[in-house]
Parts: sequence; structure tokens; C-alpha cells
Amino acid sequence: MTAVDDRSATAAPQYLSYWAKSSTGEEHPELSADLQVDAAVVGGGIIGVTAALALAGAGLDVALVEARRIGSGASGYNTAKVSSLHATTYYKLVSSYDDEVARAYGQMNEAGLAAVRELAAEHSIECDLREKPNYTYAAGAQGRDSIREEAEVAARLGLPATFEDDLPELPVAVGGAVRFERQAEFHPLKYLHGLARAASDAGVRIHERTRVVSLDQGEPCELRTERGARVRAGHVIVATHLPIFDRGLYFARTHPERSYVMLATLRDSVPQGMYLSDESPAHSLRAVPSPAGELLMVGGESHKAGQSDATERYRSLEEWTRERFSVVSVEHRWATQDNIPNDTLPMIGRLWPFSDRVLTATGMRKWGLAMGTAAGRILADRISGRPNPWADTFDPMRLHPAAGGPSFIKENADDGARFFIDRLRRRGDAEDLAPGQGAVLGSGLGQRAVYRDEAGTMHELSARCTHLGCIVSFNNAERTWDCPCHGSRFALDGEVIEGPAVRPLPPR
Ligand SMILES: Cc1cc2nc3c(=O)[nH]c(=O)nc-3n(C[C@H](O)[C@H](O)[C@H](O)COP(=O)(O)OP(=O)(O)OC[C@H]3O[C@@H](n4cnc5c(N)ncnc54)[C@H](O)[C@@H]3O)c2cc1C
Ligand code: FES
Repeated sequence: MTAVDDRSATAAPQYLSYWAKSSTGEEHPELSADLQVDAAVVGGGIIGVTAALALAGAGLDVALVEARRIGSGASGYNTAKVSSLHATTYYKLVSSYDDEVARAYGQMNEAGLAAVRELAAEHSIECDLREKPNYTYAAGAQGRDSIREEAEVAARLGLPATFEDDLPELPVAVGGAVRFERQAEFHPLKYLHGLARAASDAGVRIHERTRVVSLDQGEPCELRTERGARVRAGHVIVATHLPIFDRGLYFARTHPERSYVMLATLRDSVPQGMYLSDESPAHSLRAVPSPAGELLMVGGESHKAGQSDATERYRSLEEWTRERFSVVSVEHRWATQDNIPNDTLPMIGRLWPFSDRVLTATGMRKWGLAMGTAAGRILADRISGRPNPWADTFDPMRLHPAAGGPSFIKENADDGARFFIDRLRRRGDAEDLAPGQGAVLGSGLGQRAVYRDEAGTMHELSARCTHLGCIVSFNNAERTWDCPCHGSRFALDGEVIEGPAVRPLPPR
């Protein structure tokens, strides 16, 4: 069996997620010959696999094409809370939009949570699914009013919310908490692998290690893969996290945030609820069952992807945890990223304004397990002609300039600045690189991404991200080349780990 994320394993296998280490899943063949299907799904994360299974259930002939392994993206690297409580979202949605939009957001997420439960039961997926309350807590007295407001607004919208003064099982200062009842946690890869097995049993043709590189929109649409095989399909779902074919400017309407996760053995008992603080950056907590007993999961240290020192972030997360919990040892560490929409709402629907044949879903705000499940079903409903109550609210072609405007300007100004300033930066020398270290060297258009391996050999790639040309930076923990603009990541040999890029960094 190959580890679920065999690409990044070649650089720094210690940063495989616990989920990837403990569930490898069934292997699916590469696509080696052309295919013709009713619907093609690109991307085997929670959105893609859920959509493929739903489409097969509606009687369509479906192909699912995944660049690496099923679940090797964000869906296999998160903190695995399945919930409709997302930090403090509801009072903000009511103030930026109205009750109707906020209610639709809550109902869609509750429906996603219910669908995960139903699918796990229907397909007998053993995925450590446990019903738990989920909390967002104020880390100090100053956050109390916002937390109370979140609880009141969410309850008014019909969500299972209450306000609590204290959280007795947490060894941290708490200025009040909003509690959502009947939420869940699970092992996301055991779930996703089970879902992929169910999809395959229902006739979905799953192809792993098959990267899609282009799409011709027509009747049928035609997808071309890296090694030449094509898929022709009446409908296409682009479920690649951030869409790889982007005429809807999704990369400008979201920004990627990367966060860090660790699993620790504690001397004392592990808190059993699911928790998220209102700090900036926030901290996330939950228990994880493992063969060695219950472990504490801690997540946090979020930042814009490609713009921080990863080793320092891991160190800081561990320090935060050790100051509050009786940590015996840290067992696992990893990081991942998700796309944050400027206007707070996920985008689920048409990829391009004038076609119903190509659909996408993105902008899950680090809450894509319940929401991504609902999104996969919305996309499948759209293709099979079934009405869906939330399709219009989250259609990407909506326009809410007041809600998304300031964030749109800030994030795109930042990307523009990175594009130019990184070209003018004064760079170090190759001689300064220690074994196992990488850096961008050179200047202007000739900048190189240079890595000195443990044996001392230098490896040089172009430093220009193949998406839109920003200069990549070296991730000194995972040992990858990460783009600071829209989240593409590349392995040390230049191969794409994560899009929106689809082409490798060429050697220099
Ligand atoms: C630190 C962190 C913690 C999180 N914790 C939670 C949580 O507790 N609860 C929750 O609900 N959400 C959580 N999330 C968010 C959640 O993990 C994501 O929203 C969700 O997994 C996104 O699913 P997806 O299917 O869109 O993307 P992915 O899982 O990334 O799937 C996309 C797939 O597309 C494939 N792909 C990409 N390009 C191509 C191509 N060219 N050809 C073929 N395939 C391609 C990729 O390899 C990948 O497998 C967290 C996110 C982060 C960053
Ligand atoms: S991801 Fe867009 S330029 Fe790199």
C-alpha cells in the first residue's frame, strides 16, 4: 500500500497527517485510455467524492479523476469536526446580509452534517464518528458579548445553540462560550475511503494519480490529463479545492489560509468536547481516539499560505499547548490550507457565468466537511435536474460587493504587492544554504528556487509559480515550494502538490 499522500511523503514524511498514516484506502488505477461519461468529477476530496456518489445514485455514468490519491488534499489533513458552528459566523452574516442568508448557511451545514451520518450508516463506513457538542469560546472577557450574540442569533435562526458561562473541562481562561448540540467528529480519511468504495460499488470509475491539465468546454466537454488520456463528459464538476480552470476569478475572490495541527499524549485526561477559541490566531481542540489511547488534537497558527516560517509556527503551536496541558509527547504534526471567501459565503455552482455544464465548489472557510458534503449534493442536484433549496444563495455568480469588497481589495493588493516586491528582493547566496535547506536565489525574472539536499547536491527550479507567476517561497518544515499568492504548492522536484497551478515548476 502507498501512503495516501505519496507526493509530500518524498520530501518530509513526518508531516503526513495522522489520518493519512492510519487509513491508506483502496488504490485506484491511473487513467490510461480515453473515457466518455455523463459526468466527470475532477478532484477526490470530500466535495468530489460526495458529488460522484450522488450522481451515480441518480443513474449517471460517472468518472472521478484525482491528481494524487483520494483524500490527499485538505480533506485528509483537517481537524475533522463536522459541524454547523463555525467560529462566530451567524451574527456577522445577519449584519452583512440578513436572516435569510444566515439561516440558509446554517440549514445547509446542518443538512451536510446529517448527510455524513446517513452516508456513514448506509454504507457501513467505520470512521470513528462520535456525536459531540461543538463550542466557540471567548478566550477573555472582552469576547463575551460577541459570543453571547452568536448564541442568541444562531438560536433565533433555529440552530441548536445555547450560551454557557464556563467550560469546566478546559484548562484555559474562558469568557463565555456558544455551544451547538448534536455535532460530530470523525476520522475523515476512513470516512472518505469508505465513501469512495461506495462510489466505486455504485459504478463510479475512479482514477488516481491522474492530473487534469485542461478543459475544453463544449458538448461534450473534454478534459485532458497530464499523460494525454482524455475524458469526454456532458457535465464536469471541478472539485479541486480552488478551481484549476478559473474564468470566474475565484483566486481573486478567496485567499488561502494555512494552519497547523498536532496530536499529543497527555498525562491527564483529554477534554471530550470540540472547541475553538475566538483569539487571533484561533486555537482548535478535540480528542482523537487512537490505538495508543485518546490523544489531544490542537490546531492553530493560521496565516496566509506561503507567507510564514512553518518551523516557527509548529514550535509556537507546541509551546501554546505545553503551557496549558500536561503534554507527555507530541505524536504527529501536519499542516494544511483552505480557501477563505472574501464575502464569507461558499461558492457552489457554475464555474463560468454562461454555462451550466461546468460546476465548482470552493471557499469552505476551513469548514468544508459538513459544508462540502452539502456542496457536493447541491452540484449533483444541479446536474441531475433536482431542485435544491440552497443552490441560489451560494451560486458563485451572486454579487454582494458590500460584504466582500474590503477583503477583496486587501487580499488582491497583497497578491499584487508580492508579485512585484518579490522580484526586487535582495537574495542570499547558494553557498549559505545548509543541507536540507532551500531558498529563492537570483533576481528579477531569473529567480531560481534552489534546494541543497542532504548529500549536498543542489537542485534548481524556476521560482515563478506556474499559475500566475508569483515567486514561490521555501517551506522549511514540509520542504516544499509554496506560492504566497493563491496557495499553489510544489514538491522539491517541481511537481504540483496543490493547485490552482497544474504545471510543475520547470528545472533551471
Ligand atoms: C487546518 C485546517 C483544519 C480544518 N479543519 C476542519 C474541520 O475541523 N471541519 C471542517 O468541516 N473543515 C475543516 N477544514 C476544511 C476542510 O478540510 C476543507 O474545507 C475541505 O476538506 C475541502 O474539501 P475539497 O474537496 O474542496 O478539497 P480537497 O480535499 O483539497 O480536494 C481537492 C482534490 O482535488 C485534487 N486535485 C487538485 N488539482 C487537480 C487536478 N488538476 N487534477 C485532478 N485532481 C486535482 C487534489 O489532489 C485533492 O485531492 C480545515 C481546514 C484546515 C486548513
Ligand atoms: S498560486 Fe497563483 S500565482 Fe501562484
